[in-house]
Parts: sequence; C-alpha cells; structure tokens
Amino acid sequence: MGKKQKFKNITEIIDSKKLLAVKKPIDEANGLPNECYINEDYSFYEREKVFFNKWTVIGVGSSIPKSGDSISYNLLGIPLLIIRDKSMKIRVFHNVCSHRGHKLIEKSCNLKNVIRCPYHSWSYDFEGNLVATPHIGGLNIHTSKNFDKSKNKLKSVRTKIWMDIIFVNLNSNEIDFDEYISPLEQRWKKFITKDDHNLIVHSNDYGYFCLNINSNWKFAIENYCESYHLPTIHPELNKVSNINDHYHIQGLPNRFAGQGTKKYDQPMIGNKKFDTFSNWEKNRLKNAEYVALFPNVMIGLHVDLFYVFWLEPLGINKTKEHMQIYYVGNDSANGEDLKELRQENSRFWKKVMLEDVGAIESMQKGRCSPFYNGGSFSSIMDQPTHQFHKWVVESLI
Ligand code: FES
Ligand SMILES: [Fe+2]
Repeated sequence: MGKKQKFKNITEIIDSKKLLAVKKPIDEANGLPNECYINEDYSFYEREKVFFNKWTVIGVGSSIPKSGDSISYNLLGIPLLIIRDKSMKIRVFHNVCSHRGHKLIEKSCNLKNVIRCPYHSWSYDFEGNLVATPHIGGLNIHTSKNFDKSKNKLKSVRTKIWMDIIFVNLNSNEIDFDEYISPLEQRWKKFITKDDHNLIVHSNDYGYFCLNINSNWKFAIENYCESYHLPTIHPELNKVSNINDHYHIQGLPNRFAGQGTKKYDQPMIGNKKFDTFSNWEKNRLKNAEYVALFPNVMIGLHVDLFYVFWLEPLGINKTKEHMQIYYVGNDSANGEDLKELRQENSRFWKKVMLEDVGAIESMQKGRCSPFYNGGSFSSIMDQPTHQFHKWVVESLI
C-alpha cells in the first residue's frame, strides 16, 4: 500500500447511514459497522485517517535505552526507524535510504556510529544527515560536483515523547502535542505532576511482555474502555474491585476514554511495597485510572505504578499487544529487594491481559456475520465505548 495510492471514499466502502447511526444518542446508536473490522478497503482508509493523521504510538523509549539503539518498526506498511541519538534524544525517521530506497535497517539493533545502508553504503549520522556517499563520483571518488548531501537527509517523522511513550504524527497535521495531551494532564493533576514524569523508571527484569492476537486493534481499546465485563472475564479482580467500585472516564474534547477504580490495593509481599508518587492526593490513594488515549495506547496509572499498553496493528484482524510496566524510582523498578514483588505484579497484569484475549478474539469472529449490525450499547455501562466509536467515525468523515 503506497502512501500516495488513491483510496476509495469512505462512503463507497460503508453506507453513510451506518456511520451516522454510531453518532446517535447512546440509547439509539449502533456500534461501528462490520466493515470497520473486516474490510481491507476500509483498513486502508483508516490507516490514513486514524493512524497517520493522529498522534499514534509506536513504542516506548525504554526499549532503546542506549545511544545507537534502533528499532525497525512497520506502521501498517510504512517502514520506520526509531533511534536514540548520541545526545540520548529519541528520533524517528522513515526507514528508507535517500539513494535508491533500500530499507536501512531490517532488524532492531545497536548501531555504532552511523546508519549505513546495506546496498551502496551511503551512511547517515543519528540526526539523519547524510555523511558518506562512497564512490558516488566513480571508483574512490566519494563526492560529486552536482550532488548536495544536505538535500538528501533521512526523512524525519514528527515525534513527541511523553511519559516515555513515543508518539508520531506521520502526516504532520495534528495539533501540537502539548495541546493534544493537555486535557489528560489536567485530569491527572490530582495524581501526578510534570516533575513526577521524571520519577517513572521502567523495570528491566519483569517489565515488558507482548502477545499476538487474532483481532482487529479496536476491540482491545473497546474492551479496555469498560468495566462491564469484570464479573465474567476477571472474576478474581472482581472480588477486590467490582463494577460498583468503578467509574467512567470520558475526556473532552473527545481524545480519550476509559474507567477508574476507587478500590486499588497496592501489591505487597510481607511488608514490602513499591514506592509511591509523592504528589498524589492523600484522599485518592486507592484510585487508579485506566485510560485509552485514541487511537492505540492504553495507560494504567496507580499510586505506585504506571503501565503503557500499546497496540501494533499487523493487519485488519491481527494485532500485537505490548505492555511495559514502570515504577516510581529505581529502587522499586530495579532494586533486588523488590524483585519478587515485581515478578508477582507482572504475573498479575499478564494474567489480566490474557483473560481479555478470548473476549477480544470472539468479537472479531462475531463481526464476520453480515446479520450483525454493529449492535446496541448499554446506556449505563457502555458510555466510554460509545465515545471511542464516535471518535472513530469523527476521524473518518
Ligand atoms: S540504496 Fe542506499 S546506498 Fe544505494
Ligand atoms: Fe478486561
């Protein structure tokens, strides 16, 4: 799928009545139509309108801790290169050589000094400047009179790092990130301040895991937006924090939705616990919030831990889920003393994640039925999910 390939208008793919039905009041609305989960023409349209026009997540900084660490990432067919430069800044480039378009790096790796193209060895520094063009003027002549290196840099991608999360806006047309994230930062002022962002440390030992699921990426977001399924899908979790302990989160302007709980208990082994955020309001220590920031990242914020759960869409019905856990300060994140507690905690979140997979994959199967019209919502339980569906429609049209 080339970037400039012409795609059909959305109303040629989906009857506009079906899209407008999503935007009705929740009592009358239908969910997104089946095409949004199974139609290849639709996914091309969505790629442009939802992933390239928005601030989309492609990973976390903790995956590339050292200078030169690089990730080869495929965002729905677009090859990207994520690299930590020598000043430790994270940069994202199109993973394509300016010469004949060879892909620059195939696999994630640590690069020593330059990004060297394997085809004719043109090389770029970590800021994307073209620094070497061997034999460009003939054997052993490495410059050429009419060739301007500065016009052949790597193409950089609009990028912002926030709480270690790497956001990109491929089409460079979304509002400034600080403005974009401001409503969520305002909401979380009662829990964490900007200074607290610096305290978040990723855990090296049990911090990261991932999973491939047979489902469209949107079902993972929808599932995350609601606590309605707690008693059936997470019976253990439901014993400590049930539906009644949860509340809806619906951000305005519509960029995020989710749920919160008032019954979070810090994990403990004996009297060992993780360090906590010091600015967290004392009367809200048991609050935890689970926010899906559209399109593809879910964040869990607790007084003693923070996780990033992001989705890598691999195709219309295939998604890779990634989760990275962070703690407050290095002792909690990596200290020997709390290793067992981290292991337990990681096991807990992985179990929750796995419990959801069956539900998410089953919704994908249900969408193969042409007799299903997108379904109805509970006007009480499904408000955040409906909000996400409306956001998708608004992004499309
Ligand atoms: S394509 Fe990269 S050096 Fe020729
Ligand atoms: Fe769940």
